[in-house]
Amino acid sequence: MRNELEARYKAATSMRTEVVRVDPSRPEPDVVARAVEVLRAGGLVVLPTETVYGLAALADDPVAAARIFDAKGRPAFHPLIVHVEDAERARTLAASWPGSADALANLWPGPLTLVVPRDPTKIPDVVAGHGPTVAFRVPSSPVMLAVLRALGRPLAAPSANRYQTVSPTTAEHARKTLDGRAPLILDAGPSLHGIESTVVDCTQSPPRVLRPGAVSLASLRAVVPEVDCVHIRSSSESVPLPSPGLSAKHYAPRARLIVVSPESIEKALQDLRGHASFLVLEGRPHLSADPRVRVLPMDPEAYGAGLYAALHALDEGETDTIVVEAVPEEDAWLAVRDRLTRAES
Ligand code: TXA
Ligand code: MG
Repeated sequence: MRNELEARYKAATSMRTEVVRVDPSRPEPDVVARAVEVLRAGGLVVLPTETVYGLAALADDPVAAARIFDAKGRPAFHPLIVHVEDAERARTLAASWPGSADALANLWPGPLTLVVPRDPTKIPDVVAGHGPTVAFRVPSSPVMLAVLRALGRPLAAPSANRYQTVSPTTAEHARKTLDGRAPLILDAGPSLHGIESTVVDCTQSPPRVLRPGAVSLASLRAVVPEVDCVHIRSSSESVPLPSPGLSAKHYAPRARLIVVSPESIEKALQDLRGHASFLVLEGRPHLSADPRVRVLPMDPEAYGAGLYAALHALDEGETDTIVVEAVPEEDAWLAVRDRLTRAES
């Protein structure tokens, strides 16, 4: 049986990557069934989620999960997020379930990932980067949920991009770097949040945000007031990382990215016009007609939703430098600031 499935997977992966449209809110059962068939055979499928597109494989099958690392070019120590259809499934796959995870799971389904103790008989070493913990997420995306329910098994799914590049918020972004590396991409249009899930380590007390993301610190603290947050790192720091995804130089475009203060952006625009592309905050109407300038809203959620698409677009332009206007210092901008800091280093 396994051999037959392997043979089918090989036949499928030697073909071109197929992109299939799917209804984002009411996914067609036949499209869901196609994704499930490839996944059951141990194959990779690019699936839309409410954060970014994910490159999915069976999380309880080490051979299938290992294919993700090959396709992404990702180092083996870097753990994957395990997606499940509900909190009950996460609980049964974990070695134990901390009290803080119990409380924070009330925010599921949604863009929140909880790190808990791992049961190695249920989640293989390769998925967890050989570590003692595992990260779970119950997504709210109807397409991802439909696939998880039809499959009845957990799915490992990192962002569907090559290692250290900008995450995909459209099927086309994913196809650009993963073409020929996965047989199937489901296209549900642009991602809702456009920025990855918030990762919280629940194995420590108090629980700690390892990666700021689409769920704000304020929302987490409304449930567990003592939630702590690691500070955003710069590239010059070389202390050991609590989570590999915290490594600086992540989420980076091809072009060099420079963040400048709002006070300096006008001068940079004058000095570097013709040599750079620009990403600025709304409120500079004289710039909006310039094709090398992208404007994003002065609202952290709306900005986050458009950030990766803007970086993908500017990265395709002729210049090798992207100048980004710094965003506000408030906590609400934490996830956006974190991604910009890493893209810069
Ligand atoms: O929104 C998201 O989370 C997307 C969608 C597809 O679900 N996925 C995603 O996965 O961003 P990835 O692999 O690109 O990022 C996973 C993050 C990394 O920062 C990784 O270090 C952290 O989660 N992580 C995973 N397992 C962990 C663990 N056991 N302990 C600490 N951090 C972990
Ligand atoms: Mg990623």
